[in-house]
Amino acid sequence: MIEVLERERTFHLSTEHTSMILHVMESGHVVSLYWGGKVYGKEFSYIVDELKKASYLAWTDGNRNFRLEQYPVLYPVFGNPDLRSPALHLRYEDGSRITNLRYSSYRVLSGKQKIPGLPTVMDRSEDGKESDEATLELVFADRSRGIRLKLLFSVFGKHDAITQSAVLINDSKGSVWVEKVMSACFSFLADEFDCITLTGAWAREFRRTRQSLRQGKFLVDSRRGASGHGQNPFLALTDPGCTEDTGNVYGMNLVYSGSFEASVEVDMQHNTRMMMGIQSFDFSWELHSGEEFYTPEAVLVHSDRGLNGMSQIFHRLYRERLMPPNWAERPRPIAVNNWEATYFDFDRKKLLDLADEAAGIGAELFVLDDGWFGHRNSDGSSLGDWKVNEEKLGGSLKNLGQEMKERGLGFGIWMEPEMVSPDSDLFRAHPDWIIAAPLEEPQVARNQYVLDLSRKCVREFVIEAVAEILEGGVIDYVKWDMNRNITDAFSGELFPGNQKELMHRYMLGLYGILEELTERFPEILFEGCAGGGGRYDPGMLYYMPQIWVSDDTDAIERLRIQDGASLIYPSVSMSCHVSAVPNHQIGRITPLKTRGIVAMQGVLGYEQDLTKCTEKGKKELAEQIGYYKTVRHIMQEGTFYRLRAGENDYAWMHISRDGSEILAGYVQVMAKPNTVPERLQLKGLEEKAWYALEGTDIVRTGSQWIHCGLELDQSMEDYHAVQWGLRRVEMP
Ligand code: GLA
Repeated sequence: MIEVLERERTFHLSTEHTSMILHVMESGHVVSLYWGGKVYGKEFSYIVDELKKASYLAWTDGNRNFRLEQYPVLYPVFGNPDLRSPALHLRYEDGSRITNLRYSSYRVLSGKQKIPGLPTVMDRSEDGKESDEATLELVFADRSRGIRLKLLFSVFGKHDAITQSAVLINDSKGSVWVEKVMSACFSFLADEFDCITLTGAWAREFRRTRQSLRQGKFLVDSRRGASGHGQNPFLALTDPGCTEDTGNVYGMNLVYSGSFEASVEVDMQHNTRMMMGIQSFDFSWELHSGEEFYTPEAVLVHSDRGLNGMSQIFHRLYRERLMPPNWAERPRPIAVNNWEATYFDFDRKKLLDLADEAAGIGAELFVLDDGWFGHRNSDGSSLGDWKVNEEKLGGSLKNLGQEMKERGLGFGIWMEPEMVSPDSDLFRAHPDWIIAAPLEEPQVARNQYVLDLSRKCVREFVIEAVAEILEGGVIDYVKWDMNRNITDAFSGELFPGNQKELMHRYMLGLYGILEELTERFPEILFEGCAGGGGRYDPGMLYYMPQIWVSDDTDAIERLRIQDGASLIYPSVSMSCHVSAVPNHQIGRITPLKTRGIVAMQGVLGYEQDLTKCTEKGKKELAEQIGYYKTVRHIMQEGTFYRLRAGENDYAWMHISRDGSEILAGYVQVMAKPNTVPERLQLKGLEEKAWYALEGTDIVRTGSQWIHCGLELDQSMEDYHAVQWGLRRVEMP
């Protein structure tokens, strides 16, 4: 809900459990008075009126008692007396970088509007129900420069989330250069926070990093042309003592898949400012007269129920308002992917043998990974030549797809459409289509170049090349991969003065391609991948409802990776495969049961040579799949809780949407000698309801499972895993 208190010059944005209060000061600067648990009342400006004046800071508008730098400025602009990091930095034709934006008007719009060209959280209040989504548009103007800024806040009441984005409008006669434009910024009159980010690298994505803030600036960013393995476009501030279930958390996540920056600054007055948006390093966008520039949007989530509370809000919002609606609710097929089974070394017989085994254990989808096109038998060639290698496949793709259908399996393929190999017909025909610097030998990574998607002709080629493969109805699934980042950032089509626009234009180009393909092929399930989790972000989730979390398929490594991803992304978006042992990435040998339980935290799949499995092994796989089919809706639609995330043990659970079914998983990494008996406390159950533990005759109340917990056996095994199902029952 958005309440406008005209007399108080205050905007009260409220969701079911949170409030955000914005206020227009006499000077026309807008400040953020409050964001947090729900508050009631009209007058909040005392929060800034009662600020004690600090010394030495610049006066504002000639008023010695008004020092803007002390105030929680909502969207700070370079050029005014607030000398902390700005959210907006413009440059004008006369060389000036000074912008003086003041509040001019507001509008309240019902629902949530799409941002042109960019993925966004959507208003999906269809089925005739009243929407509880509304948007506040605050307009600021610099009249001498002819610049307007619109800040858009969309409130998702039931979902407890707010999105923020900005639009810049150039009403002047000349060009204006946008050097920095953040999507969201929030300033707190406090500095007692911990800061949580997700860091890592290839094969060890999504490490939780937590540190307490000190005076100074902390930045997490990507300059890679993708959100990246090493950082996620996410930042959360928490109370220092915040736990999984208690304390305040303020999370921000950017709906964007390219280079970004997220920063938090503690200033000399002990105030904290967090912001997030497109990477400003090497960014500069020429905004011509009459043009508008749209930032991606940031999602702002506050929870006073700790990190689980924040995660649950993100999960629900992304499932119900971000992911493609026709896929969000559909049971995700259990895939068998041939990558770790065969790598590039396959022929028709190997694929069909694998498919026979896949069908035999109850899988639902066969995914043909890399190596089916051009003459690609290694990563050394053929990207861009999206023509089926019929010799290798022993027939057409359609024919192979039909074979899969005859076995009762869906059929999926791998593609990497953003790339081209130097050894490809496409590159030989269009060497100028790649991103490469003039006078330099283009850099290769994984033997490939990045196509310049800022160019229309390149985008048209990609769309048609992919569509040609997908047409004909035999393909049910596409794994859309992206295996290198952008170096040599230079486009042959942009003017010299506009080269710094390339990274963002690439993303706009990619989103345009995905928009068209997902619209043309709504029945195809797209899975995002970027050498694992190198581009796992809300921008991708808007088009692709599941993403390959990591190339690391080792169950123990996956514990940490999936734990970190679960901070923001719903389980149903996490693609998790059971692979062979010793594990191909790190050589570890773990029990099949453990691999299965860990993969069942998300969308289960298999990636191993099933033709080499023993009968006993296959029976166990079939049992795993059979069980997963009975519980996948719990994972897919349910509420997720992290129960433990220690160095040596991890535990999590899902509660089905109707609250009647519970699935909990636990892994002990290393066995411990001579320990005290331990119990695993569950969360989120109804205290007075009764729940039966499946496979036993134990029936206890929710409060008993919550407070007294489940018995954890003292296993002598390393990598030991347990899974429990509980079901709500009538009082026994
Ligand atoms: C990337 C992906 C893998 C696999 C290979 C194929 O590395 O992350 O899963 O698809 O490409 O080349």
